[in-house]
Amino acid sequence: MTDTAKFALDGKEFEYPVMSGSVGPDVVDIRKLYAQTGAFTYDPGFTSTASCRSALTYIDGDEGVLLHRGYPIGELAEQSSFMEVAYLLLNGELPSADELQTFNTTITRHTMVHEQLAAFFRGFRRDAHPMAIMCGVVGALSAFYHDSTDIHDPVQRTIASHRLIAKIPTIAAMAHKYSVGQPFLYPDNSLSYTGNFLRMTFGVPAEPYEVNPAVERAMDRIFILHADHEQNASTSTVRLAGSSGANPFACIAAGIACLWGPAHGGANEAALNMLREIGTPERIPEFIARAKDKNDPFRLMGFGHRVYKNYDPRATVMQKTVREVFDALKVNDPLFETALRLEEIALSDDYFIEKKLFPNVDFYSGVILSAIGFPTEMFTVLFALARTVGWVAQWNEMITDPDQKIGRPRQLYTGPTQRSYVPVAER
Ligand code: CMC
Repeated sequence: MTDTAKFALDGKEFEYPVMSGSVGPDVVDIRKLYAQTGAFTYDPGFTSTASCRSALTYIDGDEGVLLHRGYPIGELAEQSSFMEVAYLLLNGELPSADELQTFNTTITRHTMVHEQLAAFFRGFRRDAHPMAIMCGVVGALSAFYHDSTDIHDPVQRTIASHRLIAKIPTIAAMAHKYSVGQPFLYPDNSLSYTGNFLRMTFGVPAEPYEVNPAVERAMDRIFILHADHEQNASTSTVRLAGSSGANPFACIAAGIACLWGPAHGGANEAALNMLREIGTPERIPEFIARAKDKNDPFRLMGFGHRVYKNYDPRATVMQKTVREVFDALKVNDPLFETALRLEEIALSDDYFIEKKLFPNVDFYSGVILSAIGFPTEMFTVLFALARTVGWVAQWNEMITDPDQKIGRPRQLYTGPTQRSYVPVAER
């Protein structure tokens, strides 16, 4: 591609620089467009807009490729650990053995939450959705850890990042415990990040909890698969919130709120609910027909993606992990067969072929999480737990980006033009 792009408006021609990344599409730098032409661009949903530069995650949606700092997600999921991926995303390189141990220790040392935070939980109804609790409690962290909210101090930024990554499993487990009426469990720092989370979620103080290594490995892999995903809606929300100078705890709470939606992180819960509603494979055609019907708002949950127009590489790993978890727990959920059949039928249907709709990360995750014992309301919480690593890494990258500005999109105004106020008696 050339290094400038020409743009013509009202008979005048303008030139804009074209920037190239290390891989992926070039971008046209239109920062001066409004100043020079008086026109904005129109791009609802940012389908053609690069909102920032980033060296964290690369996705090639046509080829079904996902790289973190250059490493393919499949290799990371198979060979790495969530803590190692967290280090990689935050620091740019894989850690040495010593660096990994130090990082693990640092995160471990921050797993406890302020005791007063437990009282905070009691303000919620027992039947509150755990994502509602997460939005509130994570937002409240800035009130508890005010000594790490100065975003201009790199040391405070690092401490806040570690605190968020370390405390989010504790808070997530507390949200679960609160809803089932069981006591909160303090973290056990002799366990791994993921083992500790499983114990805080499923253990009880009355008896010892033994972490099942196969489940721990599967859960850790699920966390890796969700760790980061480029400039998706919640990450962009974190960046937008952060662009005003808001503290990191508030920014991550904003990301959690955005993630909750069924088109984003809420899709894993919605996908399992959909599979339950379908039940047995005979009913699949009925649901496929509904998904294709323009007059029916129903969509196949766990299918389709803004960026992937090919199989989501995370779904491949997820599908494999289902069997591993079933074997480890000696369970066999018939819904997995329904999911496999649904995928098969959808992928041979012209509607899904033409629109390039493939299973995404959420299609199989619900079956695994349910087998492990998580209630559906917790699924999106687990996504938030893992994505906190990506949000924190993206937030740090944004703060140190010299091009960073407060996010302030413009609009195409379609409301009334100026008119005079009419007193109510005359209306
Ligand atoms: N079932 C049926 N039709 C679909 C689906 C689906 N799951 N997804 C997209 N379509 C159709 C849609 O109706 C539209 O058709 P038409 O062009 O005739 O109007 C076309 O495909 C393009 O859809 P879109 O909504 O314009 O695409 P988008 O890029 O804005 O949306 C999406 C992407 C993920 C929101 C959408 O595919 C969807 O709603 N999927 C179901 C929810 C889901 O699984 N979300 C999880 C995403 S992955 C995890 C994450 O990142 O959070």
